[in-house]
Amino acid sequence: MNTDILAEQIEYYRQRASEYDEWFLRQGRYDRGDQHRQQWFSEVAEVEASLHNAAPSGDILELACGTGLWTQHLVSFGTHVTAVDASSEVIALNQQRVGSASVEYIVADLFDWFPAQQFDFIFFGFWLSHVPMERFVAFWQMVKEALKPNGRVFFVDSLLNQESTARNHPTLHQQGYSERKLNDGRTYRIVKIFHEPLQLEKSLQNLGWSGNVNYTANYFLYSLVYPAKIINQSAYI
Ligand SMILES: C[S@@+](CC[C@H](N)C(=O)[O-])C[C@H]1O[C@@H](n2cnc3c(N)ncnc32)[C@H](O)[C@@H]1O
Repeated sequence: MNTDILAEQIEYYRQRASEYDEWFLRQGRYDRGDQHRQQWFSEVAEVEASLHNAAPSGDILELACGTGLWTQHLVSFGTHVTAVDASSEVIALNQQRVGSASVEYIVADLFDWFPAQQFDFIFFGFWLSHVPMERFVAFWQMVKEALKPNGRVFFVDSLLNQESTARNHPTLHQQGYSERKLNDGRTYRIVKIFHEPLQLEKSLQNLGWSGNVNYTANYFLYSLVYPAKIINQSAYI
């Protein structure tokens, strides 16, 4: 995967900032009718309930925070949220939506950033699918090093389902990238990996994480994971 596509991905989300929420709210090109919208939001509610059950607390880090669709939940749990995104445009919208002095915003490229402190809880929504496979291990290592002892990680992402994307987007596939359009027709290539939940769970176990990768009926996978404890170190010597 060349670095051009990662630059194009940042640019795409910068240009898309004001229309980003149409995807989540199922509006415009993402409108697939009332029945679909009802099902989509029932699956969103399942993920939100799981996040609430996880009860994030303390210092929270949100990676690729976007327009604040998840920041608005996190801020009600933690004492402090650090929200990072490469796009100052989405961060401006996030600030408008969340409007809280307990959120600190950082504009940074996550492939070239390391947190200056550790966190009790790390969250990322619809970000893991944009991490190229050759950066997967390094990304999870960064996450592990950014966690306090007993820290936890929650993430949500997309299952491969054509109805998730805009009506005028090409057929989705598993090849690791997607072509995306803005409302005005400009086209960008982005990384988009549709992780298969069980395979992802195994990959995370191999990297020393505990926890299950769950999934809703159609649209989302979600997971609460934490570094696996080594009970008896002598068993590994
Ligand atoms: C699919 S959106 C998810 C936004 C938000 N987490 C949500 O669920 O609504 C992906 C986000 O990643 C950000 N992004 C893309 N490339 C990035 C990079 N290299 N570093 C940091 N953020 C990046 C985009 O600006 C965008 O806000």
